[in-house]
Amino acid sequence: MASSPNGSLRVAAIGDLHVQEHDAAPYRELFAEISGSADVLVLAGDLTNFGKTGEAEILAEDIRTCSIPVVGVLGNHDYECGQPETVSAILHEAGMTLLDEQAVEIQGVGFAGVKGFMGGYGRGELAPFGEPIAKAFVDEVMNEARKLENQLRTLRTERSVAVLHYSPIEQTVEGEPPEIFQYLGSQRLCEPIDRFDHVKAVVHGHAHHGSYEGRTPLGKPVFNVAQFVLKPKFGKPYVILDV
Ligand SMILES: [Fe+2]
Ligand SMILES: [Fe+2]
Repeated sequence: MASSPNGSLRVAAIGDLHVQEHDAAPYRELFAEISGSADVLVLAGDLTNFGKTGEAEILAEDIRTCSIPVVGVLGNHDYECGQPETVSAILHEAGMTLLDEQAVEIQGVGFAGVKGFMGGYGRGELAPFGEPIAKAFVDEVMNEARKLENQLRTLRTERSVAVLHYSPIEQTVEGEPPEIFQYLGSQRLCEPIDRFDHVKAVVHGHAHHGSYEGRTPLGKPVFNVAQFVLKPKFGKPYVILDV
């Protein structure tokens, strides 16, 4: 496996694959291209359109053809049929490393990730106040942030990548209607990212009409790698980051 000339790891990232049941080898050619030009492939959630078994099996076949490690997280769409564990198991069986509970190290670079959840940014942020269901809603994203923090804490690498589906910052959801910003992510996801110096880049998806690039409050670069953001910008549905 050839690595980048400056010793960095070439991390290819793509989110929002939305594989459907009638698709035939939808990512095979793309994964072959990526296998030839990157060291790791990161998938940033919404891997399937509805979280159906058949959709996961179609993607799994394409993942099997990848000759580089594949890591990533699920997205909200992968939960739609109520069987995210089945989707994860099928993809895991094909060789993909599902982050969520455990970080991994690949060629000296750490990868930690969670799906994340919604909740908003700045003045639009939902507070854990009042009815139990409002508190439970905020708990959900705080729990995701805690899982990410626990993974990041286990990494002993000098460089790591945080992988999310929901956005930790508002900047990369800009382009979407402002009324839905709070459904596209939560700034609570920034806290673990900014706590660890080794996090060098963050990737997420979910905001199909968002913006490519932004920064956390402490200046960590955040990239929206939803394929619908990347394709118009770069002419291809993935990006390669040197980490
Ligand atoms: Fe999506
Ligand atoms: Fe999504």
